[in-house]
Amino acid sequence: MPSVSTHVPTAPSRRIAWGVMTFFAIVVVTMVLLTIVTPAMQSPVYTGRRDDLPVALYTHVIAGAVALGTGAFQFSRRLRARRLAVHRLMGRSYVVAVALSGTAGLAMAPLSDGGLAGHFGFGGMALLWLITTACAFTAARARRIDDHERWMIRSYALTLAAVTLRLYLPAMLVAGIPFDSAYPAIAWLCWVPNLVIAEWWLLRPRKESVR
Ligand code: HEM
Repeated sequence: MPSVSTHVPTAPSRRIAWGVMTFFAIVVVTMVLLTIVTPAMQSPVYTGRRDDLPVALYTHVIAGAVALGTGAFQFSRRLRARRLAVHRLMGRSYVVAVALSGTAGLAMAPLSDGGLAGHFGFGGMALLWLITTACAFTAARARRIDDHERWMIRSYALTLAAVTLRLYLPAMLVAGIPFDSAYPAIAWLCWVPNLVIAEWWLLRPRKESVR
């Protein structure tokens, strides 16, 4: 029986982007899971929403951690080539996690800090998160694999808002910008540049062609 090679060539730029993204995703998943079991680590935003909407908050946070954790591995070409069944199982988990976390995020958006800019920033992000993930799932079911990958890149760029928010907020506070001024801007900054970068990534000229 001839052996079938499952080596998948990957460009260095893609490997580096994946490594950086996955590192930050794992750090934030760990932080978020620790926050659930360690109330002393919970921010005032967390305790505020915990008092108003506990079911939505915990659904959002736990399912969000699942989406952030599973989503990164969906981009591994090696996993797709060697273990397609695992990719499918993790993909379904990602879609269910986004559906739960996004719906809960949408419910929390009108109560978020940051006034109207906060409500619309988080609400818009939640809607786009649900829509891009639904498009990725539909494309996968229809075996439109290129489309599926493109929508997953957009969807996960939004998932990564959980990382960028936790980088920008402390940076702004350290820069002396008060929370009340920083937070409404962060409600948009945490995801709009991510989507712009995702579109740039999708449009960039490519030397490699591997599928
Ligand atoms: C990408 C779509 C997401 C949307 C639309 C969204 C929306 C929200 C909203 C509206 C709040 C409440 C903010 C406030 O009350 O001021 C919130 C808080 C929170 N979210 Fe998300 N979120 C998203 C992704 C995630 C993910 C992927 C995670 C987990 C990894 C996560 C973890 C949390 C946590 C822990 C809080 C509590 C506040 C804190 O401690 O920072 N979110 N989110």
